[in-house]
Amino acid sequence: NNNGVGLKPPMGWNTWCSLGRCGRDYCDAKELMAIADAMATNGMKEAGYEYINMDDCWGDHRDDKGNIVPDKDRFPDGLVPVVKYVNSKGFKFGLYTDAGLYTCSSGGRKYKIPGSYGHYEQDANTYASWGIEYVKMDWCNTKINGTELDPHKQYQEMSDALNKTGKPIFFNSCEWGVDNPWEWMHQYANSWRTGPDHHDDWKTTSKIIEVNADLGDYAGTGKGWNDPDFLMTGGEGCDPPVDSVHCPGMTDTEYRTEFTLWCLMSAPLLVVTDVRNMTSIMKEVLLNKDLIEINQDTTGPGGKRIGFDKTCGENACQIWAKNITNGEKAIALYNADSVSHNITLDFSLFGWKVVSMQNLWKNENLNATNSYTVEVESHGVQAYRAASVG
Ligand code: GLA
Repeated sequence: NNNGVGLKPPMGWNTWCSLGRCGRDYCDAKELMAIADAMATNGMKEAGYEYINMDDCWGDHRDDKGNIVPDKDRFPDGLVPVVKYVNSKGFKFGLYTDAGLYTCSSGGRKYKIPGSYGHYEQDANTYASWGIEYVKMDWCNTKINGTELDPHKQYQEMSDALNKTGKPIFFNSCEWGVDNPWEWMHQYANSWRTGPDHHDDWKTTSKIIEVNADLGDYAGTGKGWNDPDFLMTGGEGCDPPVDSVHCPGMTDTEYRTEFTLWCLMSAPLLVVTDVRNMTSIMKEVLLNKDLIEINQDTTGPGGKRIGFDKTCGENACQIWAKNITNGEKAIALYNADSVSHNITLDFSLFGWKVVSMQNLWKNENLNATNSYTVEVESHGVQAYRAASVG
């Protein structure tokens, strides 16, 4: 999509899963404005977080002209005052819609929230008139009169409609990997969900890491970004839990791993936890300037898994890398196993010999020759910015 936006992975916050209510969102004008206040002062704005996005929650019905009308209880004065407030704090405002007849979570509600089907141009014009700068389009209720819609056609149509408004609007597709969107969605969208929903649990985090491990080359400036879904950093699980398996929350080690690999993959950094209350792990992770710099570095394509240390089994000890500025590399040594391991990085993988390495989680620099071995705890990473020095 060459609409001129999304030249770097987007960074921001999203209402979905917010405040420990994964899958049961209750976003409203007050909550969004409070988030904007918080992000303007808690270090996130300076760190580069730019978007405040509403997920499924805001729509209500269409009026007699077919215009989408926001939920009056949540947004008594409509969206425009909220958009303006968010803009006044230095952020861009985004929203969610669906390609089909109703949004994804409509089923669980009193009445169904309309999707954009049959109204793409009308909705795009409405969004543009409200000052919306990011649109996510989901993929639910897409069977019309017994026939499943074609995502190629639908995302192209909405992309054209958004571009026709003449406003630069970031477009995120969310069809969870249907028909390998990384191969074609860049024509229409600025980012594309590559797989299933992420929850605040290691089970979905590790699965999503696996889904995205080989996709790095599809991401890059001028193309767009693989979207592995939201960051759960510092979540406390969901209340009530989505089910008995999902959402117990994660360990600090697992939140560091999530953020590190999202940064290396050049993934969108969209936080869904309560940033009005930054806990120490949230500050440590979400404001890690060195990792954010790697995420935003668009010298090359996204990073990916480039190999394994097979001494600890088939998939357990993984080596991930992303090429960055000045011939340097960001490297993550990731232990997917349930016990700790020593992971060895053989520099011949890069054709390097003497390497200087800056640890991205500790204040530590070191030099190593030929290879480097470090202990990595279960589900953990060690991450470095590395340069060949001889
Ligand atoms: C789908 C999407 C989620 C979220 C919900 C909202 O599950 O994948 O990211 O937008 O719908 O209903």
